[in-house]
Amino acid sequence: MSTSRQFAIVTGASSGIGRELAKVCASEGFDLLIAADEPEIERAAEEIRALGAMVETVEADLSSTEGVDQLVDAAIRIGRPVDALLANAGRGLGRGFLDQDFGQARQVIDTNITGTVYLVHRIGNDMRLRNAGRIMIVGSIAGFVPGSFQAVYNGTKAFLDSFSFALREELRGSRVTVTCLMPGATETKFFERADMLDTSVGTAKKASAADVAKIGFAAMMRGDGDIVSGFKNKLQSAVAQVIPAGFLAKQHRKYAEPGSAGS
Ligand SMILES: NC(=O)c1ccc[n+]([C@@H]2O[C@H](COP(=O)([O-])OP(=O)(O)OC[C@H]3O[C@@H](n4cnc5c(N)ncnc54)[C@H](OP(=O)(O)O)[C@@H]3O)[C@@H](O)[C@H]2O)c1
Repeated sequence: MSTSRQFAIVTGASSGIGRELAKVCASEGFDLLIAADEPEIERAAEEIRALGAMVETVEADLSSTEGVDQLVDAAIRIGRPVDALLANAGRGLGRGFLDQDFGQARQVIDTNITGTVYLVHRIGNDMRLRNAGRIMIVGSIAGFVPGSFQAVYNGTKAFLDSFSFALREELRGSRVTVTCLMPGATETKFFERADMLDTSVGTAKKASAADVAKIGFAAMMRGDGDIVSGFKNKLQSAVAQVIPAGFLAKQHRKYAEPGSAGS
């Protein structure tokens, strides 16, 4: 790999926001180690190499300790300091909690929370030792709202939003920054995978993943603590901070209840 460029890890880079984040990184002078759970990551790598970056891939299940270790081992083998970690891999799950398959619900928690914090722990320690680095955690404005019919997912994003601010504070005074990217509904495979195509939010017009990625990347490079992408989302998240949780949960039903599409 070339050494004049910086080096970033992007998880969940095979599709959606993560793929776009990896493309922005490549265009802005980063070589990359990208990861996802399925072979599509190789096609993403080819697309990103065409932008002039050196790209290595890891296919691993980042909900597991072993999967995260595989990614970190690959970074160690590459032998370059990680200038930026973009912890984006995540998944959603619709339907009422008691109707969900518990294994799938657990996979959401293990991917979004356990895998993410373990990866941040491993790479973050190295960054702290070097007193340099940028961490982006992809949370969500969903973290501000108790998500009826997406209860586990919203809970994981509330965790990540909170965790990101806390870690940033712990690293204050160092040269390691932590930025929480909080997108609103974005056009990706997310809603299909979460079995939410019969919901209002699943069928609504959404932000483009490329726009969200550009906004998030710029915030990370500025070292901002958080960035909510999009004016409407900014407004919604500001309002959510002052509205009672019970009311928010009731409102969320309208977006996410199965069969709410078109209503
Ligand atoms: N779309 C939205 O409306 C929205 C809004 C706010 C926040 N977000 C967040 O944005 C992030 C990216 O989601 P997206 O919307 O871009 O969805 P997406 O198109 O489904 O992309 C998800 C990415 O994460 C990877 N991934 C999921 N589980 C994984 C696992 N266990 N191990 C390794 N890789 C895994 C997927 O790879 P594989 O296909 O290989 O599993 C894929 O590359 C997520 O954290 C999501 O919560 C999305």
